[in-house]
Amino acid sequence: MIYLDHAATTPLDPSVLAAMEPFLQADYGNPSSAHAAGQAARRGVERAREQVATALGVPPLDVIFTSGGTEADNAAVKGIAWARRESDGASHLVTTAIEHHAVLEAMEWLAEHQGFSLDVVPVGPSGVVDPEQFLAALRHDTAVVSLMAANNEIGTLQPLDVVGPAVRDCGVILHTDAVQAFGRAPLDPQEWGVGALALSAHKFNGPKGVGVLLLGRDIPVQSLLHGGGQERGVRSGTFNAAGIVGCGAAAELVTSTMAEEVPRLRGLRDRMLDRLLTVQGVSLNGDRERRLPHNINVAVAGCDGEALLLALDAAGVAASTGSACQSGATEPSHVLSAVGAPVDHGHVRFTMGRTTSEDDVTTAADLFTHCVKRLRDAGGAFV
Ligand SMILES: Cc1ncc(COP(=O)(O)O)c(C=O)c1O
Repeated sequence: MIYLDHAATTPLDPSVLAAMEPFLQADYGNPSSAHAAGQAARRGVERAREQVATALGVPPLDVIFTSGGTEADNAAVKGIAWARRESDGASHLVTTAIEHHAVLEAMEWLAEHQGFSLDVVPVGPSGVVDPEQFLAALRHDTAVVSLMAANNEIGTLQPLDVVGPAVRDCGVILHTDAVQAFGRAPLDPQEWGVGALALSAHKFNGPKGVGVLLLGRDIPVQSLLHGGGQERGVRSGTFNAAGIVGCGAAAELVTSTMAEEVPRLRGLRDRMLDRLLTVQGVSLNGDRERRLPHNINVAVAGCDGEALLLALDAAGVAASTGSACQSGATEPSHVLSAVGAPVDHGHVRFTMGRTTSEDDVTTAADLFTHCVKRLRDAGGAFV
């Protein structure tokens, strides 16, 4: 199988598994226990915290481990909104139309059920938000805004470097979902004035079910979870020691290899994209330049997206129609709708990763060409 769905999830790197193994067996103590077994596990957690902090250029105390990106997004968006409303009555929220559901639905829920007001800023066909339009949505009572670093479906990079400092100057807290960007695009939370940031380890060759909420210690927050008071009281619950150790090891791995890996991925991506674009009726969704180096998302005329995906799968290529988190849904994704992607086309996302080779992308491009032709010959349906 040629796996081109690294935006959905990535394989666990063998070096990450090796780092985790002791914490699945020998070092099984509870990291909150005072005895030696607990403290051995605690050392693993604290080392991981340092690895993540170094990767992001922030103090280790700002790093809070969670169960993944969804929890980190919810904890930031809801937790900051609740805290700001309680401290100074701020009850307005701003985000964009192309955020992941973990942000968009959290904000919509706050608006529908908790009396917050919400502005969702649109994006044009480029899939990149206009900084001026985003900043124009800010109000004197804005509690928290959320702008993703990179989109999960079309890979577009958002102008955090411009928006972040301006939001900070307005005294508003900025959350960013950096789940897709981490390890693949530069991130500078401190320089950009980011108050909260979400990561997910399984998107960067770490284990599933563990993530990071980067939260400045000056950021007001109410906790989603109440319990033992771990992680500054922001995220109670027994530490997932092995998962956290894997998250730290993976963060170190991807940041230490980014300088070679990003141009390599971009080369593979461009090689494949150029081949796909030679097929008549195929066009790229979203901006080509302001884009993650490993992301292709194409619109294909005369083919049903699900049918094309099944045909590719049968031919041995794993791709995606959009966000894996909503696979099974047949209506066009909110991201493709937001960028005005043609509704009568099929849409396919290919995302490369550490394990992708040149052969993989050239073979996958040939198989794509073949599948599109077969489907079109059959009137667009899978046969
Ligand atoms: C941009 C983005 N945010 C959040 C998430 C959710 O992360 P997790 O799978 O760790 O809950 C994903 C996963 O697809 C994502 O792509």
